[in-house]
Amino acid sequence: MTQRIIPITSPNFIPDRTPDKPLDWSAIFGNSNPLALEIGCGIGHFILEQASKQPEINFLAVDIYNKGCLKTCAKIDEAGLKNVRVMRVEARWLLDKGLHPESLAAVYINCPDPWPKKRHRGRRLVNRELLLTLAQFLRPGGNLFFSTDFDNYAVDVAEQIRDLTGYRNMLPEDWTHHLPDYPISKYMQRFLDKGQQIYFIHHQRDATISRQELPVPAVQRGYRFDWQKAEND
Ligand SMILES: C[S@@+](CC[C@H](N)C(=O)[O-])C[C@H]1O[C@@H](n2cnc3c(N)ncnc32)[C@H](O)[C@@H]1O
Repeated sequence: MTQRIIPITSPNFIPDRTPDKPLDWSAIFGNSNPLALEIGCGIGHFILEQASKQPEINFLAVDIYNKGCLKTCAKIDEAGLKNVRVMRVEARWLLDKGLHPESLAAVYINCPDPWPKKRHRGRRLVNRELLLTLAQFLRPGGNLFFSTDFDNYAVDVAEQIRDLTGYRNMLPEDWTHHLPDYPISKYMQRFLDKGQQIYFIHHQRDATISRQELPVPAVQRGYRFDWQKAEND
């Protein structure tokens, strides 16, 4: 099925799908506030609430889904928020090309596609390589939040991040089912309505470890995404 691509005209939308150099976020936001990234923002419920609560933080919400970016922009525009920008960009491409290392105060990844079938698990976005990459892009003390309704995905991420140099668990256990003040995304709400629990994982980039001491991701960070194929699938 071919997606109908509706052009996004919001002033809060950055139309570059394949940036080839780090963007100047201070110029884009008109201030030098800390930058936080939401990967896979969907239709924007989470970012709307989080950015409303933290006007002193600049938020970048990204998704590969045109309609999601469109709806996220509509929410941000309607709320009149000045601290959010939206990009339709593949997350690993953005990390590789569009951001400077140690430039993120926080990263949020909420309910990424769980790929529940065992043979599809390799397609999961959050894996050891992405966690290693994010460690490079979080500033020392920066926060990484991951949420999922899928127990096996939570176990996988918890096990992988536990052994990685450069992260500190901020929770008493590997995860919690209640994270006070954390906004509920559309998918979280969907699962909560079905009586399922959400697993929240919260780590910080360990400020005592320098970037030079961090393990380097095993795969090339520059991830090629076939936009043509995505739009014709
Ligand atoms: C299951 S939805 C969750 C949406 C939202 N975070 C929520 O909790 O309601 C996953 C989202 O991640 C996006 N996504 C998947 N892979 C991505 C990637 N590599 N880069 C950016 N976004 C991605 C999808 O397009 C989709 O909107």
